[in-house]
Amino acid sequence: MEIPSYVKNEKLKSWVQEMVDLCKPDNVRWCDGSEKEYDEMCQLLVDAGAAIKLNEAKRPNSYLVRSDPSDVARVEDRTFICSVNKNDAGPTNNWENPKEMKEKLLGLFDGAMRGRTMYVIPFSMGPIGSHISHIGIELTDSPYVVANQRIMTRMGKAVYDALGADGEFVPCLHTVGKPLGPGEKDVPWPCNDTKYIVHFPEERSIWSFGSGYGGNALLGKKCFALRIASNLARDEGWLAEHMLILGVESPDGERTYIAAAFPSACGKTNFAMLIPPEPFEKEGWKVTTVGDDIAWIKPGEDGRLYAINPEYGFFGVAPGTSMDSNPNAMHSVTKNSIFTNVALTPDGDVWWEGMTKTPPPELTDWQGQPWTPDSGKVSSHPNARFTAPAGQCPSIDPEWENPQGVPISAFIFGGRRSTVVPLVYQAFNWNYGVYMAATMGSEKTAAAAGGLGQVRRDPFAMLPFCGYHMADYFNHWLQFGRKIPNPPRIFGVNWFRKDENGKFIWPGFGENMRVLKWVVERARGKAVSVESPLGWVPRYEDLDWRGLDFTPQRFQDLMAIDRDIWIREVLSHEELFLQLYDKLPKELIFIRELILSGLWRSPEHWGLAPERA
Ligand code: GTP
Ligand code: SPV
Ligand code: MN
Repeated sequence: MEIPSYVKNEKLKSWVQEMVDLCKPDNVRWCDGSEKEYDEMCQLLVDAGAAIKLNEAKRPNSYLVRSDPSDVARVEDRTFICSVNKNDAGPTNNWENPKEMKEKLLGLFDGAMRGRTMYVIPFSMGPIGSHISHIGIELTDSPYVVANQRIMTRMGKAVYDALGADGEFVPCLHTVGKPLGPGEKDVPWPCNDTKYIVHFPEERSIWSFGSGYGGNALLGKKCFALRIASNLARDEGWLAEHMLILGVESPDGERTYIAAAFPSACGKTNFAMLIPPEPFEKEGWKVTTVGDDIAWIKPGEDGRLYAINPEYGFFGVAPGTSMDSNPNAMHSVTKNSIFTNVALTPDGDVWWEGMTKTPPPELTDWQGQPWTPDSGKVSSHPNARFTAPAGQCPSIDPEWENPQGVPISAFIFGGRRSTVVPLVYQAFNWNYGVYMAATMGSEKTAAAAGGLGQVRRDPFAMLPFCGYHMADYFNHWLQFGRKIPNPPRIFGVNWFRKDENGKFIWPGFGENMRVLKWVVERARGKAVSVESPLGWVPRYEDLDWRGLDFTPQRFQDLMAIDRDIWIREVLSHEELFLQLYDKLPKELIFIRELILSGLWRSPEHWGLAPERA
């Protein structure tokens, strides 16, 4: 194997050699991140029948890729945290003994790249050279991964310079798990029914077998930037979070940065790219985007918290994205983008459910079959995604590549709750905020009114992404808050509350600006609030209603904190607490008591604005 002269890191060289000996690829290619290389990768995908080049006039330099129908999303049940001690992974992660797992993987990876090329991808999570950034090297046999990594990460030769002769990197090994025999014809989207997404937290390494899709295969994202990085963050005193980062510019020109954690498919991309309603926009309110999925946050020397988006692109859910719901995302994907598992129009462009009100009369669906609106099925897979360069987003923040990061003034946590949880509230203090985030729940589908049954607890939106014991993670957050002066304020939001007819009470999307304005002003110590059992909340008159017809009565429905319902809710927090009991911080138990006391001391139905009959 010939190693380029600009690769100086001995540890890297010997690791690659070792993995070549194991995986036995036909060729090894050291990627340089160039445009030429990207074009070649896309051409390979086209030649293989996996990709179609889209109409150059309509969607320049863009491709549609169709995955195998069995390989369309992350596989949480095949994801493992193999720490030396089982209890370090905790009860919410799959665990296997690292020695036994490594043996199994060595068997699976032995010869796994036969008949294929191994690509060596150097990438930086975060701006190259930033003290918050980290370097990874991904070895993969998938040109789709190479092309996507070039959009999603800072990839190329400059990474080797930053790495130097003895820098640290996270080794990320990936194979689609389908070696080719001599003369064997490849399939368009090779993958394997056996899948393993494995993390060795002590070794800080990642082994991924059998899938070519999304977070299973783009190892910089969930595997590195969240599961491995959460371990680094705990050890080194910072935070690696499933959070968007946005800036709010007020008419006086001041910009306030906020990080927000919502579970997967709960609207991070939309919120990160929010366009304020007209009266706000006219007055000079503006939202800017730093990131839409992951935040790395470190304390600065001035005691404030600074955040970077470790990614370089967006890997966003396509269905539902439209000029109405998210114009900034639509503008981001006008060129230089990869679309996976969406529909193809007759004129060589893409379409997905919700992109336009009326579907085109005919399409080719995500599986390559003819489709019409009467087909009785969706044309795009529900988890179809676009990969687009972040720099193409019109709302991208001027500081998004600042190696120092942006200063965070508030954290927001929010799940999908059709009942129970009010539109917005501010935790009384850091510990209350940690409680709120730790007990965050989300519904997959609309729950029956008042029903709590289908709520899945998703603490900090990190349940599938925390690389160690969730209760240790709570402790880390509590400890983190103790160490910083004047920590960011913590807020809860819920855009998804429904009325008795099953309709969303809150219009959401751009209108979320009204909540955001209150949050920003609270963080700046300005906006008015009153106390509720859960935290500080705005009264009707504390929100800016210009340009929206929303009655105080409706607001009360949205904000109601019902004692009986909340007692049941708190009981259901208990389930998570008992699961994590051996390491659960005592603080959370006492906060729960405080919330219960608050519920009992407050009026029967915790009414806001006009008293409810
Ligand atoms: P991952 O990339 O999977 O981490 O997800 P994400 O958090 O970026 O989620 P995404 O933006 O893909 O979520 C989109 C879903 O949220 C769609 O179903 C949207 O309709 C819904 N959504 C986004 N914002 C709002 C809102 O303000 N109100 C309502 N009701 N739904 C919203
Ligand atoms: C998520 O599932 O939260 C994602 C998509 O952001 S993936 O990168 O595939 O994990
Ligand atoms: Mn995500």
